[in-house]
Amino acid sequence: TSMLRELEKLLSTAKGAEREISEKDFEGFKELFHRFLDVKGPSVDWAKINRPPEDSIQPYDRIQGRGLPDSVADSLNRLVVLKLNGGLGTSMGCKGPKSLISVRNENTFLDLTVQQIEHLNKTYNTSVPLVLMNSFNTDEDTKKILQKYTHHRVKIHTFNQSRYPRINKESLLPVATDMEMTGDTRDVWYPPGHGDIYASFYNSGLLDQLIAEGKEYIFVSNIDNLGATVDLHILHHLMSQPNGKRCEFVMEVTDKTRADVKGGTLIQYEGKLRLLEIAQVPKANVDEFKSVTKFKIFNTNNLWISLPAIKRLQDQNAIDMEIIVNPKTVDGGLNVIQLETAVGAAIKSFDNALGINVPRSRFLPVKTTSDLLLVMSNLYSLHAGSLTMSKREFPITPHVKLGSSFTKVQEYLTRFESIPDMLELDHLTVSGDVTFGKHVSLKGTVIIIANHGDRIDIPAKAVLENKIVSGNLRI
Ligand code: UTP
Repeated sequence: TSMLRELEKLLSTAKGAEREISEKDFEGFKELFHRFLDVKGPSVDWAKINRPPEDSIQPYDRIQGRGLPDSVADSLNRLVVLKLNGGLGTSMGCKGPKSLISVRNENTFLDLTVQQIEHLNKTYNTSVPLVLMNSFNTDEDTKKILQKYTHHRVKIHTFNQSRYPRINKESLLPVATDMEMTGDTRDVWYPPGHGDIYASFYNSGLLDQLIAEGKEYIFVSNIDNLGATVDLHILHHLMSQPNGKRCEFVMEVTDKTRADVKGGTLIQYEGKLRLLEIAQVPKANVDEFKSVTKFKIFNTNNLWISLPAIKRLQDQNAIDMEIIVNPKTVDGGLNVIQLETAVGAAIKSFDNALGINVPRSRFLPVKTTSDLLLVMSNLYSLHAGSLTMSKREFPITPHVKLGSSFTKVQEYLTRFESIPDMLELDHLTVSGDVTFGKHVSLKGTVIIIANHGDRIDIPAKAVLENKIVSGNLRI
C-alpha cells in the first residue's frame, strides 16, 4: 500500500497527455511489483524439467527442405518486422541508441535493417513494414534519424515501451519524487526489458492497426543481431500450417558452444515449451545448465509470433513471464532494483509453440568492439543490408579479444587506420596501447601486448602470422 501511495503521488505530478501514458505504465508496473512480492523460491522445480520432445525443436534444414511456393509475396504481405530498439550503446561507450552506431561502411544497425526490408519489398513487390519498439531513452534520437528514410520503400512505425520507476533496494519504494525526466533525474526510471513488448504494443494501438491491415505474424529480434534477416522458409512454414494447428510462436535457437553457456535454453515443463534462463536455475544446478551436452541449444531472440494470438492473450491478461530482478547502483551509490521481463519467456503462453534450430549465421550479435571488428572486416561481405560470411578454410569466426583501450567505439576507430585483413585469422588478442597501420594482414594466432607505458604501432602493410608481439619485442 505504501507503494500504491507513492505511485499516486508521482502520477499527480504528471502533466497533460503524459498522465494517461504514465497511468497505463503504472498499471503494468503494479502488477509486476505485486508478483515480485508474491514470488517465493525458484520459478522452476529442477526435477520437473524435461528435454523438449523430438518434434518440438525442428532442424532448419527440414524447414528449408520443403522449398518455397510461388506465393511468397502473399506471405510477406502478412508479415511485420519488429526490432527491439529500447537499448543504448553504453557498453560500447556510446551515448545514444545502440541502433545508430555505424557498423559497416558508415551504415548503422538501423540503416542495414531498412536496406534489408526495402530489398525484400522491391524484390517481391510487397509492403513489409518495420516497427521499432523504442524506449524513453531512444525515442527522440531515433525519430530524428527516421526522416532520412522517408523516400525508402519501407513503412516505418514506432511505439514506446513503458517507463517504470526504479525501486530503492532497502525501502522497496520508488526512487523518483516526480514524473520529471531531465538530466540526472533520468536514472530513476528504466525500460522494463523486452518482455514489455506485449503490453506496450497492445496499448499503443499499433497491434490492432496492423491486424486490421491483414498482418498475421511479427518477426521480432534484437536490433544488434545482424544475422536476424527475414527468413522466407520459416515464414512459409508458419503460413502453411493448417488452421487450428497454427503455430503461434517460433523461437529460433542455435547450437550452443562453450562461448554461449549463459544463454537461455528451451525445456519441456508441465507439457509446454518453456525458456529457461540462467537466473532461474537453482545454484546447485548451474553447472548442469551450462553443460553443452545436456542443454544443447540457446535462444537467439529471433522470434516469430502470431499477431492475433498476442491480441487474444493480452485481452485475457494471460501472458506469463518470469520476473528478472536486476540490481543496479545508480549515481551517488544508491542500491536499486529494477524488475524486468524477457520477450522469449512468454513462449509457454502460446499454442503450438515451436523451436527451430537455425544455423549460427542467424545469430550475429554486436555486443562489443571485438564483435564490431569482425563484422567490419573482410570476413563478411555486404549485400542489400545483409552480411554473408566470406569463404574460409573453416567456416567459424576467429576468436577476437580486444583490450580495454578498445572498449569505446570512438577510441577503437582511431586505433585502426584501416580494418586488417582477417580472412586467415583464427585468434587475436590485443592488449594495451596498440595501433594498426593501413592494410595490415593478420593470420593464424596473433597476440599483441603493449605493457603499461609502452606503445606498439603495427606498421602499414605488415603481415603478422602466428606471432606474439610484446612491449620490448618489435617485429
Ligand atoms: P539486451 O541489452 O537485453 O541484450 O538487449 P543482451 O544483454 O544481449 O540480452 P539478450 O539475451 O539479447 O536479451 C537485447 C535487445 O533488446 C532491446 C535492446 O535494444 C536490444 O536490441 N531492449 C532491451 C529493449 O528494446 N528494451 C529493453 O528494455 C531492453
